[in-house]
Amino acid sequence: MRRYLIAGNWKMNYTPSEARQYSRILKAMGLQDFSSEILLCPSYVSIQALVDSLRGTPVKLGGQNLHQESKGAFTGEISGEMLKDSGCEYVLVGHSERRQYFHETDELVYKKILRAHESGLVPIMCIGETLEEREKGEMHDVITRQLQRVKNLDQEIVSHLVIAYEPIWAIGTGKTASAEQAQEVHQFIRNILDKHVGAAISSTLRILYGGSVKTTNAKALLSEKDIDGLLIGGASLKAEDFYTIIQIADQLL
Ligand code: 13P
Repeated sequence: MRRYLIAGNWKMNYTPSEARQYSRILKAMGLQDFSSEILLCPSYVSIQALVDSLRGTPVKLGGQNLHQESKGAFTGEISGEMLKDSGCEYVLVGHSERRQYFHETDELVYKKILRAHESGLVPIMCIGETLEEREKGEMHDVITRQLQRVKNLDQEIVSHLVIAYEPIWAIGTGKTASAEQAQEVHQFIRNILDKHVGAAISSTLRILYGGSVKTTNAKALLSEKDIDGLLIGGASLKAEDFYTIIQIADQLL
């Protein structure tokens, strides 16, 4: 049984003070042990604020990116070791905004997955097609290409990998993939993983959905067989909405 992972990606939002305020609201609603795993990915400068304010709660923390090298002269970058030492357990790798605005390639994403693992972090590998690619019928090719290098990963790395399917046309647009559309792609992803790493491992891997997830569509998405959690942008910025989605997931497990 795959345990849901409900993750919030705050992107470039919330200062440390705002992060503390957010955790106060979350804690006031009650952070008992949920059946899902709960994750927040704040900006780097707000990690410490969340470590302090969420101590003793089941909420885990993740970085939004990491550099592919472990240290050195890379002004403005952050290493996996830094994230790990700051209290992170996960890290997003290859988010579409990183690919689009910072020119991250599949090769770079692969290197970052290796670095994340070496740093003791669980990589959440983000993949997904643009609207143009979907409309041209290239969606399956794009996803196949993005997952190509997974077959080069050691079994030890693969068995901890999390995949996040985020169709780019659904991110921040209010256009969510329908649960059926998302399930179709998630199943396709799992079939590729089957081929790359074998069914015994691929059946245990979590594939998250991201892209305009809201309190109103979380239940339908999570009810699909191959959707094992959510990567939530905008709706995770409201503590109340994030909490509601956690509760929805809990009721389904
Ligand atoms: P939205 O939920 O705001 O569409 O963002 C999705 C996302 O990019 C999460 O990583």
